[in-house]
Amino acid sequence: MAPRKLAAGNWKMNGTLAALAEIDQILTEYPAPGCEVLICPPATLVQPMAARAEGRLAVGGQDCHAKMSGAHTGDIAATQLKDAGASHVIVGHSERRTDHAETDAQVSAKSVAAHEAGLVAVICVGETEAQRDGGETLDIISAQLAGSVPDCATASNTVIAYEPVWAIGTGRTPTSEQIAEVHALIRDRLVARFDDGADIALLYGGSVKPGNAAEIFAIAHVDGALVGGASLKAADFGPIIAAL
Ligand code: G3P
Repeated sequence: MAPRKLAAGNWKMNGTLAALAEIDQILTEYPAPGCEVLICPPATLVQPMAARAEGRLAVGGQDCHAKMSGAHTGDIAATQLKDAGASHVIVGHSERRTDHAETDAQVSAKSVAAHEAGLVAVICVGETEAQRDGGETLDIISAQLAGSVPDCATASNTVIAYEPVWAIGTGRTPTSEQIAEVHALIRDRLVARFDDGADIALLYGGSVKPGNAAEIFAIAHVDGALVGGASLKAADFGPIIAAL
């Protein structure tokens, strides 16, 4: 089995019910994409998007709690996402690591919860600009992988997204060589740790656009993308899906 190809959109805190028209357009214009398509809208849109998609694209959450229920105001459980029709959940996005001080251990616990609920965990890792400038990128990514990816990870329940923090929403991307170097490291680490580590899908994320998607998808061990801003409009996300 080779890693599956996945074009994933992270809508972050964008979109209301009116935005569901974008998925109608994607489903009409790309009825048979050559890859799996996933959109992770805000929690309010998971159920209506899943209902609208009718299985023609996958829907995911953007975070989940490590517990399945309890007194955790404002949080959402993996089982609740599953109940709403989600098949995936993003965990450890750098915006959550920064805004909510999430640690690798917490990301790992959330991934375990996702797996227990029957969700695919899309586990994010990535270095800051200062860490890259300091020559620490590979050490940082190795440490985040070791701490954030739980022992129960498999190619069926886990996707890894490499998102350099400095490339998110900035219009800047690493060179192809820099992406290749990190993805090769991630692949090595997964192969060393998991029986099916060669089959875990690896996404690149950070300023992926229609204009650079094909070049990024040609890089070894890049099995797809986790797209932010360019996933909000079908006119942008569609060509990225087509490039994969
Ligand atoms: O999770 C996707 C994201 O962080 C990348 O955002 O807007 O740079 O594509 P963007």
